[in-house]
Amino acid sequence: MGQRPVDGPPGHAAWELLLPAAAAPARSRGRSLRSALREAVRSGRLASGTRLPSSRALAADLGVSRGLLTETYEQLTAEGYLRSDRGSGTWVGGAAGPHHPWCGTAPPGPGTRAWTSFPVSRTSRCSPARPGPPPTARCSPNSPTTCWATRTPAACPGCVRSSPACWYVRRDVVADPERLVVCSGVAQAMTLLALALRARGHTAVGVEAPGSPEHGTLVTAAGLTPVGVPLDDDGVDMGALRERNVRAVITTPAHQFPSGVAYAARRRAELLDWARSVDGLVVEDDYDGDFRYDRAPVGALQGLDPEHVAYTGSVSKSLAPGLRLGWLLVPDGLAEEVVERKRVMDLGNPTLDQALLARFVERGDYDRHLRRCQRAYRDRRDALVSALREQLPGVRVTGIAAGLHVIARLPGRWGPQDVFLERAAAAGVAVRPLSDYGTPAGTGVSLVLGYAHLPPARITEGVRLLAEAVR
Ligand SMILES: Cc1ncc(COP(=O)(O)O)c(C=O)c1O
Repeated sequence: MGQRPVDGPPGHAAWELLLPAAAAPARSRGRSLRSALREAVRSGRLASGTRLPSSRALAADLGVSRGLLTETYEQLTAEGYLRSDRGSGTWVGGAAGPHHPWCGTAPPGPGTRAWTSFPVSRTSRCSPARPGPPPTARCSPNSPTTCWATRTPAACPGCVRSSPACWYVRRDVVADPERLVVCSGVAQAMTLLALALRARGHTAVGVEAPGSPEHGTLVTAAGLTPVGVPLDDDGVDMGALRERNVRAVITTPAHQFPSGVAYAARRRAELLDWARSVDGLVVEDDYDGDFRYDRAPVGALQGLDPEHVAYTGSVSKSLAPGLRLGWLLVPDGLAEEVVERKRVMDLGNPTLDQALLARFVERGDYDRHLRRCQRAYRDRRDALVSALREQLPGVRVTGIAAGLHVIARLPGRWGPQDVFLERAAAAGVAVRPLSDYGTPAGTGVSLVLGYAHLPPARITEGVRLLAEAVR
């Protein structure tokens, strides 16, 4: 298990790097401490194997509560930055940390978000037609990395503040402008990466099974063969991945689609070890990282090893899929090629859209919108879970802690599944079986139920209709 601990930094001086975070306002102190500690690990200022002071001692040195330090250690252990052996201490470097309580049991993937919650009036306030510098003054055209992803901050000062760093900081990724590419959503990011991998001699890419069918489709369209890698409760099965003879794998570690599992700390570390050992690439699709309800955020994998992880996300789940606006962070060695491919493909994303989004973020409207959606979606999820439990006795609902859908498993007596689906469709209730995502149909009925697009009353009514139809 892990490395031999090395001596911690002499005295308390090395911990001074955490002092500014400890002095942050109470509301953001926890987040600041976690970010500062991650950055210290990432940058090597805290070397792998360094033993951390006890939470009690460090809390006293920093003048913060012990509870805050304990939470910080737990969170970073869950993310793989630290490892901890019960009773004997905490060290820098993952791989051997215990599983965090939420790991392996956490929630699932996408679903459709509610059009009614699209912030029309707030986004139109951000229109570049309104007073303010026109987008052309802020963004040089025709570069894949213009505007909020500008590579030339000096030429585009307004864009730096409104850069996707606003998101990235929250997700703790390494987002230097040199590795950042603005793209038309995760779909284009996958295509760009797959083409770059193919040019480097890859013939196949691992995809999660079950997983997003889109991953396989996009990889195939780029001329690579998608190879399914099964999952267990902690993430992709590492034994199976090694057997697949691939050097790249597409993953959804914060919230696996569709199962809803959050990759365990140990598995995250193993995945990175694998990528280093094969000189390969983990693609991290952070498709709905903004929506979580009952669990703490899990930092992005990319922050742990930006040279072996390509990170991608978009506003498709948070705002609307039709905006076709996303971002991709690539390892240094791939950056030039991916930027060039994006330029050749479409000369860059429309700057007007980017300027509008940039202003939306700058004004704090994006954060307000996310908080509002989070509250609404939690209510919708609660309505769905209670209605399912009430109307369909024996149902097991999983993947509820985050995302925009749940998995509902019904025992054998509700089957066979095809009859169940036919009756649901005849009653006008649209549901998708889990088997659509590459899971073999079992004896019972397993459904993927989205909830973000319906108000609670319609959810309750839909489940009532469904139960009536299949009873
Ligand atoms: C697993 C997964 N990743 C990403 C996305 C978003 O893709 P895009 O950003 O291209 O709209 C989706 C959309 O449904 C998805 O299911």
